[in-house]
Amino acid sequence: MKIVTCVAPVNIAVIKYWGKRDDKLILPLNDSVSTTLSTEHLCAKTTIMISSEFQSDRLWLNGREENCENPRIQNCLREVYALSRIYEIDGDISAIARQGSGSACRSVLGGFVQWNKGDQDDGSDSLATQLAPANHWPEMRILILVVHEKHKKISSKIGMEQSVKTSELLKYRVSHCVPQRIQDIKQAILNKDFERFAEITMKDSNQFHAVCLDTFPPAVYMNDVSHAIVNFVHCYNKLKGHNALAYTFDAGPNACLYMKEHDVPKVLGLLSVIFPFPGEEDSYIKGISINKDTIPQETQAAFGMEQQIEGSLKYIIHTRLGNGPKKLESQNEHLLTESGVPKNLVV
Ligand code: DP6
Repeated sequence: MKIVTCVAPVNIAVIKYWGKRDDKLILPLNDSVSTTLSTEHLCAKTTIMISSEFQSDRLWLNGREENCENPRIQNCLREVYALSRIYEIDGDISAIARQGSGSACRSVLGGFVQWNKGDQDDGSDSLATQLAPANHWPEMRILILVVHEKHKKISSKIGMEQSVKTSELLKYRVSHCVPQRIQDIKQAILNKDFERFAEITMKDSNQFHAVCLDTFPPAVYMNDVSHAIVNFVHCYNKLKGHNALAYTFDAGPNACLYMKEHDVPKVLGLLSVIFPFPGEEDSYIKGISINKDTIPQETQAAFGMEQQIEGSLKYIIHTRLGNGPKKLESQNEHLLTESGVPKNLVV
């Protein structure tokens, strides 16, 4: 019997992946760039166990058993991720992760990561590479703003299939915009040029959502609160006189904000004023603890944005960049018992 437990991070794209050139192999139409977040505050934890006594593959997700016949699960099980540690394989695991979900391939590396679309039909060159490690830009901070989701959302898989079929703007984005943006954001990252990084990140998020609206029928991911957050960021940048804060939104209403460490107290102070929270401070702001600024009345008046309805934001996670997946050595970390079933089974 062998058992291994790993934690894998969340990554947030600043140049978005949207649209596949091969649906089966999960090969993208364009390169994308992301930041890998620290596993301290957000992560996926996986335990893998192999034993000659097991009759078949079984898989539990959040304590519930899943059907192993799902093709994406099958593709991953064939080559699976944490198994590379069990068998002590040191190969490229981004190609395996990609077959579970495209954007996941960027989570196998820390810091700033590029997923190269590749040109080969078999996907052999569609891999993730690190642009810079997390400690290249240690001042970078991230706030995840979790928004109430009222509608059942269209999955990324379905949304991007429809965009590829129907959006003219997607074609233009892929051929005319993304290649230059990839070059520009790489430069901005290497030069630690936050202004440029922020501008490209916001423009790419906006274009991605414009593509979603250009899809027929449209894929609507941002809601009124998301748009209020966009407005908040532009008001903040106007107040500061430069792009000190950036937003990006994926296939849902939650926002991811980038800023440098010294801006965090002010941004959190203003967020608490504009998006008031009905409960305790501790349950509003999670993650790295920090004292937010108290915002004087004059600044509130000069900010140029009305206070939103109390409770518009569910909570905020304050985090930083991280180093990618890691193996947990303690026996207590395993999610499976010695007989190979989850310790916390949901029935
Ligand atoms: C908007 O990786 O979830 O987050 O490959 O079909 O599993 P599949 O899609 P997925 O799409 C992520 C889309 C995105 C942008 C991004 O992360 O680059």
